[in-house]
Amino acid sequence: MSLLKLSTQSWSSQTVFIMAAVGSAVGLGNIWKFPYIVGENGGGAFVLVYLACILVIGLPILLSELALGRGGQANPVQAMANLAQESKANRLWTLLGFNGVFSGMVILTFYSVIAGLAVAYFYNSVRGVFIEMDVASAQALFTQTIADPWVLMFWHSLVMLFTIGVVARGIRGGLEKTINFMMPGLLLILLVLVGYASSTGYFMESFYFLFTPDFSKLTWQAVLIAMGHAFFTLSIGFGTMMAYGAYLDQNISLVRASLWIVMMDTLIALLAGLVIFSVVFANQLEPGMGPGLLFQTLPIAFGQMEAGWLFGSLFFLLVVMAALSSTISMMEPALSWLEQNWGMTRLGGTWFLGGIAWLIGLGTVLSFNLWQDVHFLGERHFFDSLDFLTSSILLPLGGLLMGVFMAWTLRADLRQTQISLQGWQLNLFMLTLRYVTPIAIMIVFAHNLAPTHTLWLASGLLLVYLTYVYQVGQAK
Ligand code: PHE
Repeated sequence: MSLLKLSTQSWSSQTVFIMAAVGSAVGLGNIWKFPYIVGENGGGAFVLVYLACILVIGLPILLSELALGRGGQANPVQAMANLAQESKANRLWTLLGFNGVFSGMVILTFYSVIAGLAVAYFYNSVRGVFIEMDVASAQALFTQTIADPWVLMFWHSLVMLFTIGVVARGIRGGLEKTINFMMPGLLLILLVLVGYASSTGYFMESFYFLFTPDFSKLTWQAVLIAMGHAFFTLSIGFGTMMAYGAYLDQNISLVRASLWIVMMDTLIALLAGLVIFSVVFANQLEPGMGPGLLFQTLPIAFGQMEAGWLFGSLFFLLVVMAALSSTISMMEPALSWLEQNWGMTRLGGTWFLGGIAWLIGLGTVLSFNLWQDVHFLGERHFFDSLDFLTSSILLPLGGLLMGVFMAWTLRADLRQTQISLQGWQLNLFMLTLRYVTPIAIMIVFAHNLAPTHTLWLASGLLLVYLTYVYQVGQAK
C-alpha cells in the first residue's frame, strides 16, 4: 500500500488550533461532571488526585495522540495505517484508528442529547422560569423535561443541526469561525461569573472545599473516577485529538500546545467549580447532589439570588457554549475518514454522520422516559450503556494503545520529529509513557470491566503488556 498523505485542510494558526482543542476538551465534562464528582467525593483530596491524573495520564496521552495525528498526516484510520507501515509494525494497529472513528460518533449520539438539555435550561433561565424556584418545583421541572421524549428530541435536533451546520463548512470556514467567537466568549463569561461568585460571600468556603485535602474522605473508587475523568475531559483516547493534530503545521510545538490544552482545561474546570460551589453554599444547598447538581441545584440557587436571572442565564450560556464547542469536534475522526478514504464530500459526509448520530441519539432520548426500564449492557439503560461503553471501555483502551504505540512501536525518529524533546525531559516523558501511564490505565480499565476482580484482571493485562514490551525489545 502506498503512503497516503491526505490531510489537505489545516489550521490557520497555532492559537486557533489551541482554542479549538481547548474547545473540544472543555465541555459538559468540566462544567457538569467535574463539579459533581468533586462534590460526591469530598472535595480537596479528590481534586489533588485528579490533578495528578491529568499530569501522569492526561498529558502524555494527549501529546502522543496529537503526535500520531500529525505524524500520520491523515484521518485516524489512515494515520495509523501510515505510521504502522513506516514503523514496520502490524497492520492491526489500524484498528486503533477505527476505535477513534467509532467512539467519537457514539459519544456524539448521547452528548448531543445532554447538550440539548443544557440549551433547554438556558432557554428556561432566560424566560425567568427559575425565579423564586423551590426544591420541589426544580425537581418537577427536571422530571417533566426528561419525561417528554418530544421535548428532548426537539433540543437534541437543534444541537445536531448546529453541529452539522458548523462542521460541514470545514476547518477554516466552519470550526475556526465558531471557535473564534465561542472561546473568548466562554472565558469572558466565566470571568464575569467568578467575579459574581466572589460577591456571594461564600467564595472562600467554595475555595476551601475545592482545595483543602481531607484524605480520610478519599476512597479507592474515587481515585478510579478521577483517572477515568482525566480521559473524558481532555477528549483523549477517541481520535478527536488525532484528527485535529493532522491539520497542524509541522513547525508548531506539540509539547507547548499540549501544556496549554491541559492547563486551560483544568483551569476552566476549577473556576467553574468555584462558581458553582459559591452559589450552592450561598443558598445552603448540598454540594454532593450528584448529576442533578447542574440541572436541579443550580436553578434553585440562582432563582433565590439577587440578579440571579442575569447570572443564571449567563451560566447556562456558558454550559451551552462549552458543550457545542465539544460536539463540533466529535465527528472529525469519522468525517475525515469518509472524506479521505471514501471520497465523500465534506457536506455529504457531515449530513450522513449527523443523521446517523441523530437517529441513534433518539435511543438516549427514550432511555429517560419510554425506555427507562429497557436494559442493554447489564442493568444499564441505553444512555448508560453507551456512556459505559465509551467512557469506561473504548476510551481507556484507545488511550492505552495510543500510548503503547507511541512508546514502543513508532519509529524513534518519527517520534522525535513530532515531540522534539531533549535530555531529561525526553527521558522523563518516555519513562512516564512506558511505565507509569499504561499501568495506571490498566488498573482503571480492569476496574471498569470487572469491579470485583480488579486485581486479577489488572495483573493479567500487565502480563500481556510486559510480554509485548519484551517482544518489541527482542525484535529491535
Ligand atoms: N472533553 C469533552 C468534555 O469534557 C467531551 C469530549 C469527548 C469531546 C470526546 C470530544 C471528544 O465534555
